[in-house]
Amino acid sequence: MAEAPERNLALDIVRITEAAALASARWLGRGNKEAGDGAAVDAMRVSFSTLNINGVVVIGEGEKDHAPMLSNGEHVGKGGGLSLDVAVDPVEGTNLLAYGRPNAISVVGVAPRGSMFNPGPSFYMQKLVVSREARDVVELDAPVKENLKKIAKALGKTMQDLVVFVLDKPRHEKLISEIREAGARIQLQTDGDVAGALMAVDPRSEVDVMMGTGGTPEGVLTACAIKGMGGQILARLDPQSYVEKESINESGIDMREILSVNELVRSDDCFFAATGISGGDFLRGVHYSAKHAVTHSLVIRGKTGTLRYIESYHNMDRLSKISAVQY
Ligand code: FBP
Repeated sequence: MAEAPERNLALDIVRITEAAALASARWLGRGNKEAGDGAAVDAMRVSFSTLNINGVVVIGEGEKDHAPMLSNGEHVGKGGGLSLDVAVDPVEGTNLLAYGRPNAISVVGVAPRGSMFNPGPSFYMQKLVVSREARDVVELDAPVKENLKKIAKALGKTMQDLVVFVLDKPRHEKLISEIREAGARIQLQTDGDVAGALMAVDPRSEVDVMMGTGGTPEGVLTACAIKGMGGQILARLDPQSYVEKESINESGIDMREILSVNELVRSDDCFFAATGISGGDFLRGVHYSAKHAVTHSLVIRGKTGTLRYIESYHNMDRLSKISAVQY
């Protein structure tokens, strides 16, 4: 049966990521990650309150590092309309923003109520992210070299052509040496594995794969985008401390389960928006000119797979007169 186009919520939530990016970009390189994150959280909260949805935050950010939060369980939206699970990362890459490094972004995902994986007390998960062409050839537990060989073949590339995005963390020492031994190239970044993952699924980017352990909330947000972009994320909880492991055990979540994109978000009827804060390969950052602030965003509808890149010109004089958000 043919369906009439429904409302594309991604076009609503992009106003939220734009507001968070505009508010937090003022803190670029100023060395204060709490202030940058706080500005984004406040802007997001105000912007959500204009939206006619009944949202509950399932993926809130900040518990890992006690940052200002849109907390898990918090209700967002006016309360009417669709009942939704909401995933937010007001600043994905708080250190990237604070130290003026590339690829800090603001991110929101929404999906029907009850459809998002709830990480409970889990902070970290192991992830393997590839594009559509390689989605059926990878296994989370296969040796690194074997996965890379299969990915290269699926993409029609040589091993030497491949670029693997890895977070530059001590826990990845072994992974990095295995990738080097296999002969692939590496893009090492201090933070920002949502941007890393989305570059891996985007055929236009130089990144072909993302591997390694990063935030669990970031994994769910990544899945919201992959639903529309195509590709695959394979993930498994990977606690980094005794306390985290014990809390997961007590919560009853199965730590051995391998979660794919369809387990992380169990509905195609999901939406994703990201706006660049600091400029990078993934999205351009906020640019201020005499009259305007310019933002670049990616919005995705899961059901149709429509991707839109939106360049917005915000008239700061007019905005400052009417907006409740301080830009
Ligand atoms: P924040 O925005 O919370 O600082 O997260 C940045 C990030 O690099 C994520 O992209 C990644 O998933 C996670 O942190 C990795 O955590 P850690 O820095 O503790 O290893």
